[in-house]
Parts: sequence; C-alpha cells; structure tokens
Amino acid sequence: MGLSCGNPTAIASLKPGEVVLDLGAGGGFDCFIAGSKVGAGGRVIGVDMTPEMLSKARRNAVIYSEQTGLTNVEFRLGEIEHLPVADASVDVVISNCVLNLSPDKPAAWREIARVLKQGGRVAVSDLALLRPLPEALRSDLEALVGCVAGAVSVSEMRGLAESAGLVSIELRPKPEYVDALTDWNDPLYQRIMQALPAGTRPSDFVVSLDVTARKG
Ligand SMILES: C[S@@+](CC[C@H](N)C(=O)[O-])C[C@H]1O[C@@H](n2cnc3c(N)ncnc32)[C@H](O)[C@@H]1O
Repeated sequence: MGLSCGNPTAIASLKPGEVVLDLGAGGGFDCFIAGSKVGAGGRVIGVDMTPEMLSKARRNAVIYSEQTGLTNVEFRLGEIEHLPVADASVDVVISNCVLNLSPDKPAAWREIARVLKQGGRVAVSDLALLRPLPEALRSDLEALVGCVAGAVSVSEMRGLAESAGLVSIELRPKPEYVDALTDWNDPLYQRIMQALPAGTRPSDFVVSLDVTARKG
C-alpha cells in the first residue's frame, strides 16, 4: 500500500467539506483516511510521479468507493515540484515520507504555498536529521530510497517552510519511529547501524518529524 513515516491525517485536524492534497500519495492510504474525514462535501487529490503507484492507488479507490459509498478521492500523475493543481485551491496539504525524496525541496515548498488557499494548512510527516549523516550513508542509494539520505535537518525544514512564506510553523521530532524500525531489525536500519560510529543509534541522527504550518 505504501511506505509511511508518520500520520499526517491525524495532525491535520481535517473537517467535513475541506479540499485536501496529498503529495506523493503512493497507494493512497492517507487519501482514503482523509476522504472519510472530509466526507461527500469535501475532496481529496493525491499526486504521485510514478505511473505504477498511480494505477495501484486508482485500483484501491474503486474498493474505497465500494466500501464507503464516497467518490471524493482522485489521483493525478505529477511531480510535487510542479503540481498539477490550481493556485489557491486547497484547504490542507498533507504528505507522508515524500519531501525527503525531492531533488528540489525549495520548489516543492513553493508549490505547497502556491496551491494553498489563504489560511490553508500544511500537515507533513517526514524524516529529518538531528546531525549530519556519515558520508558513507549520504551517498548510499538504499538509504536514499529508504527516505534517510535525502532528509534535511530539522532547522532546514523550518527554513524551507519559512522561505515559502508559510507561518505558524511547528516541528515535532519523534524518535520512536526510527527506534522501532531499528529494534525490529529492519534491513535498511541494520545497514545504517553498520555505517554509524560505535555507540550511536540511527535515532541519534534521524527522526520522524511532524511539521504543521499555515499560509498567512
Ligand atoms: C515513501 S513513498 C510514500 C507513499 C505514501 N505517501 C505513503 O505514506 O505510503 C514515496 C512516494 O512518493 C512518490 N514520489 C517521490 N518523489 C516524488 C516527486 N518528486 N513527485 C511526486 N511523487 C514523488 C513515489 O512515487 C512514492 O509513491
């Protein structure tokens, strides 16, 4: 279904009737949760750049509609740095473990600000760094696709949101997610452990981060 690092729909305080945009929707998991919260009067748009994930999400949407009777979730092919979404048309942007993958993070944040209505909200869960990763990990392709090597620091995350013109920025680091994956012997986190200095754990370097902000 997908690969998440948090629960953006839980921090988004979605209300019936709202228009929600999910960046990097994957199989659509968060879109379907959001769809149930905004109800028949609301709408959810999931954007993903991978045609295979889009097909999967659209198949899942058929099941979602059969089970809920709702037809309020749609999926669009596109890149989060060039969103196929109109200016000032979205109440809430959500995203789960995707911004770290972007090769142009300032552009992705500018696009968030562009599509939000005045007063609209952002609720993002992503991975972020507490301190720089060793070079061996920064250049590790598996660590990149596993959402670790492309992560920015917590303060850089704030800077990206600020530079895009967003306000009321709140950042909540949550080490439990990375600790759980480490304790479950997740293969990526085993690999990361081997590249870290002795006596340190992955959560000393990288954490799940909830980011909320608003277009002022
Ligand atoms: C780690 S998965 C997360 C999927 C989903 N958000 C979840 O929580 O299950 C990353 C998803 O983002 C998509 N993606 C990565 N970079 C993207 C970009 N620049 N523009 C649009 N989609 C992107 C990938 O195709 C993939 O489906």
